[in-house]
Amino acid sequence: MNTFDTVADLRAQVKQWRSDGLRVGFVPTMGNLHDGHFALVDLARQHADRVVASIFVNPTQFGPNEDYALYPRTPDGDITGLAGHGCDALLLPSVAEMYPFGTAGCVQMHVPGITDILCGRHRPGHFNGVATVVARLFNMVQPDVAVFGRKDYQQLQVVRYMASEMAFAVEVIPAPTLREPSGLAMSSRNRYLDASERTTADTIYRALQAMRDARRQGDPPGRIEGVGERMLLDAGFVVDYVEVLRADLSRPREGSEPGLIGFIAARLGRTRLIDNLDLQ
Ligand code: PAJ
Repeated sequence: MNTFDTVADLRAQVKQWRSDGLRVGFVPTMGNLHDGHFALVDLARQHADRVVASIFVNPTQFGPNEDYALYPRTPDGDITGLAGHGCDALLLPSVAEMYPFGTAGCVQMHVPGITDILCGRHRPGHFNGVATVVARLFNMVQPDVAVFGRKDYQQLQVVRYMASEMAFAVEVIPAPTLREPSGLAMSSRNRYLDASERTTADTIYRALQAMRDARRQGDPPGRIEGVGERMLLDAGFVVDYVEVLRADLSRPREGSEPGLIGFIAARLGRTRLIDNLDLQ
C-alpha cells in the first residue's frame, strides 16, 4: 500500500489506474480504524479494482466543545490494518492540504432539510463540515464508488444528496453496521468508555431491539420512541434523541408503515454514542 500526503501524488496514481481501465473505490475515514472500517474496505474491493482510503480528522465537523483534539489518532495500527485488508493507497492529508486557505471562512457545502434534525440539531454545523470535507475528498480522489457505513445513517443520506445534487460522478454504496458480540456498534469513540460504561453502552442496541419489538406489535411511533428512551434513561444515559423515522428521514404517520428506522444518540459521561436499526 502506498501512502500519500499530497493530493498531487495521489492524483497521479489514480490517473494511471484510470488510464489502465481500472475502477477506483474510496473509503474516507477519520482513523483509529476498527473492523467496521475494514469491512468498508472489503466492500469497496467488491465494487472496484483499486481501493483508496483516507484518514483525516476533519476539524470543520467538530463543534467548539467537542473532541477534535482528543480524537484518537493511531496511524501506525491503521496503516497495518489497511494494508492487511488489501487497500492499495492511503491519503493522509494535513489540515493545510485539505484547507489551503484555512478553515475559517472556507468554501462550504450545506445540505438543507435533513441536516436540521437528529444529530444536526444537536451538533450545529457538523454536517456542513462533513459535506464540505467529503466534497473535497471526492474531488481529490475522483473515485468511481465510495463506501459509507449505515452506522452513521444521517451522514450517509447527507453524502448521497450532496453527491447526486452536485453531480459528482461517484456511486455512494452503503455498508451494514458492524457490531461487537454484545450488539454495541463498533466506533472509535467506544475507546473513551471505561469498563462499567462499556457494559452500560450495550443498552443502546437492546433499546433499538425493544423498539423493533414495539413496532412489530403495532405501536405508534411516539410509543416506540418512549420504549427506547425509558431504557436509556433507566441505564443512566443522557438522551439526545430517540426517534422513529422513514428511510428518507421524514416523520412517519404510523408505526405500521414499512421501512421505518429507529435512531438513538445518547451520552454516557463525556462520550456521545449513536446507533440505528431497521425496525422491520
Ligand atoms: P469515521 O467515524 O472514521 O467513519 C468512517 C466510515 O466508517 C463512515 O462511513 C462510518 O459510517 C463507517 N463506520 C464507522 N463505524 C462503523 C461500523 N460499526 N460499521 C460499519 N461502518 C462503520 O464518518 C466519518 O469518519 C467522517 O465523518 C468522514 C465521513 C470520514 C468525514 O470526515
